[in-house]
Parts: sequence; structure tokens; C-alpha cells
Amino acid sequence: MDATNHQVRLAKRPTGMPAPDTFEIAEEPVGEPQDGQVLVEVEYLSLDPAMRGWMNDVPSYLPPVGIGEVMRAGGAGRVIASASDRFAEGDHVAGMTGAQEYAVVDAGGLSPADTSLAPLPTFLGALGMTGMTAYFGLFDVGQAQPGQTVVVSGAAGAVGSMVGQLAKRHGCRAVGIAGGPEKCEWLTGELGFDAAIDYRSEDVAKALREAAPDRIDVYFDNVGGEILDAALGRLAMKARVVICGAISQYNESAPRPPANYMALLVFRARMEGFLVFDYFSRFPEAAKEIAAGLADGSVIAREEIVGGGVAAFGDTLNMLFRGENTGKLVLAVR
Ligand SMILES: NC(=O)c1ccc[n+]([C@@H]2O[C@H](COP(=O)([O-])OP(=O)(O)OC[C@H]3O[C@@H](n4cnc5c(N)ncnc54)[C@H](OP(=O)(O)O)[C@@H]3O)[C@@H](O)[C@H]2O)c1
Repeated sequence: MDATNHQVRLAKRPTGMPAPDTFEIAEEPVGEPQDGQVLVEVEYLSLDPAMRGWMNDVPSYLPPVGIGEVMRAGGAGRVIASASDRFAEGDHVAGMTGAQEYAVVDAGGLSPADTSLAPLPTFLGALGMTGMTAYFGLFDVGQAQPGQTVVVSGAAGAVGSMVGQLAKRHGCRAVGIAGGPEKCEWLTGELGFDAAIDYRSEDVAKALREAAPDRIDVYFDNVGGEILDAALGRLAMKARVVICGAISQYNESAPRPPANYMALLVFRARMEGFLVFDYFSRFPEAAKEIAAGLADGSVIAREEIVGGGVAAFGDTLNMLFRGENTGKLVLAVR
């Protein structure tokens, strides 16, 4: 194939928020799949807060993206050449494609995207890594039980909006913490959360006393910082604090540790981090449950799809840190 592949490469490690010179756009010929691989024409790219951590040259759960390397990213698209019996030309797939227009990928690392169930971008959101994160964090780590109170931060974002909806579907009381009145209205309106707290205009600790009168059984944390401390101050006996992420700290050189951690002792609670990749073999279980929710209307998938192709990657990523997305942030590549 003699088309050109435009790629987003890491040009410079950022300090604080990624800047215009953090990424560069490179061109190279489209690759050929070898035995067991497929060539994917990437249609949508997932934007993830974790990308900020992947750019730091520090040991973590994955190696840092090297300078000059294609930026690590999830993508969804169509197989246009196959050297694998797992996928045929024309199949829709999702997986780690990297931030580029065409990707040669090992077929074993891709999941099928059945577009008769939902549109392709949903396989980066509710039916992709986002939905899996919400499901396993809430039920496996958080052990949410019907009748219990689940509080989630980053609630109008990709993972948070799924956590609250899955909690409601499971018979829990769902309280969301998000930035701004529109996001809070969306949570209690269309998504059916029981309460929403606007952390930009409200005193979160005080608002939690009203929104969680029986205290918090599961606190699903996406943001860290002061909001985590406010939630720790409202735990119920034997509560579970699920550490999914800490976006408020990702651009800080010295993350702020939790101050209120003695609440774990007082309320015999536990705080546990998790990584969605560890649940790969159980993804079908979560996908089945979420697909059932989408089909019966108890779960709504919302994607914020931004145009502009790979050249818009850096600007679009920063929308996450400015709180400019509602639901799953996706970049349309074509
Ligand atoms: N553990 C895992 O395996 C795993 C997997 C996927 C994602 N995650 C984590 O899950 C979290 C959510 O990811 P996502 O993809 O669903 O992103 P997202 O919630 O769709 O987007 C990020 C949101 O974070 C909020 N935010 C940004 N800066 C903030 C700040 N300083 N304080 C409070 N809120 C802030 C913004 O909403 P507001 O307008 O409400 O501020 C923004 O929309 C992230 O921490 C991510 O790293 C973890």
C-alpha cells in the first residue's frame, strides 16, 4: 500500500500541561502486516488522562513512551489487510493502535468491535477500556452492594459517568462530583444519579453530608487531591476507597498525598488501587453486562468526538485537564 501514515510522536517530555512542542507529526509509509498481524485503518483515537503519566521518564506499570516514539494510544478502526485468521479485511476492531492513521498490530491484542451493538467510538468508551475500568473498579475492587452509597469523582467524565450508571443499575445510591452546573444537571437528569456536587462552586465536604446521609460505602476516586480528602472524611464503616486515578495531580511535579487517611483506621475501611489491564481475560463479562444496560436503556454511552485528525491530538488531550469533555473524549482521525 503506498499511502502515507501520519503519526503523533513524543517530541519532548512536558513539565506541567503538555505544550504545543510536546508532540510532532511524522510521516512514514503505511506498514505491511506480518504473520499474526493486521493492518488497521484507525478511525478514532481514545484520549486518556493516563497518557500524561506515560510521558514521564519514571518507572510505572508500563515503560515510558520514548522520545521520538509514536504516542501510546487506544484506537478503533477497520482491518484493511490481514495476516491473521482472527480478523478478516473489513472487520472493525479496537485496541492499542498508537496515535497514528494506520497501525500494524498483533491480532491477539485487538478486540472485535461489533458495530451492530453500538457505533464504533463506543468501543473506546462504554464498551471499551472505559467501561471495563468502571465495571471492575466498582464491583471487583469496590464490592458495591445494592442499597449502598457509591460516590464517584470525575463523575461526568468517561469512567465516572459509567460508574454512577452501573451503580444505579445495581441498586445503589449514586452520587457524582463534577465541575460545573451543566455536568451536574446531566448526571441527575439524563443519567439518573441521585445527587451531584459541583466541586467548583460547593464545599464538597459539606455537600457530601447532605448527599450521602448514610455516609459512603464505596468512594470511586478519579481525581485525588482535596476531593479525595473530603470523601475520606465521610466514609461509612468498612468502606472501600477505589483508587482509579488522580487527574488533579497528573501535571504536578510533587503530587499531594491524602491528609485524611486515618479515616481508614477509624472506619475500618480500605483503599485499593487497580489497573484495568489486569482484568483483560474477564473483559467479556463486563462487556456483556454493559451491552445489556445499553440495550435496556439503563446505561447511556456518551462520547465527545472532536475532529481535526492526528494534528489535533495534543490540543484535544489537554481538554481532559481543562474539564472540557463530557463523557468519553475521542478524536476522529478521518
Ligand atoms: N486504573 C485504571 O486502570 C484506569 C483506567 C482508565 C482511566 N483511569 C483513570 O480514571 C480517571 C478518569 O479517566 P477518564 O478517561 O474517564 O477521563 P475523564 O473523566 O473523561 O476526563 C477527565 C475529567 O477529569 C476532570 N478533572 C480534570 N482536572 C481536574 C481537577 N484538577 N480536579 C478535579 N477534576 C478534574 C474533568 O472533569 P470536571 O469538569 O468534572 O473537572 C475532566 O473532564 C483518570 O484519573 C484516569 O487516569 C484509570
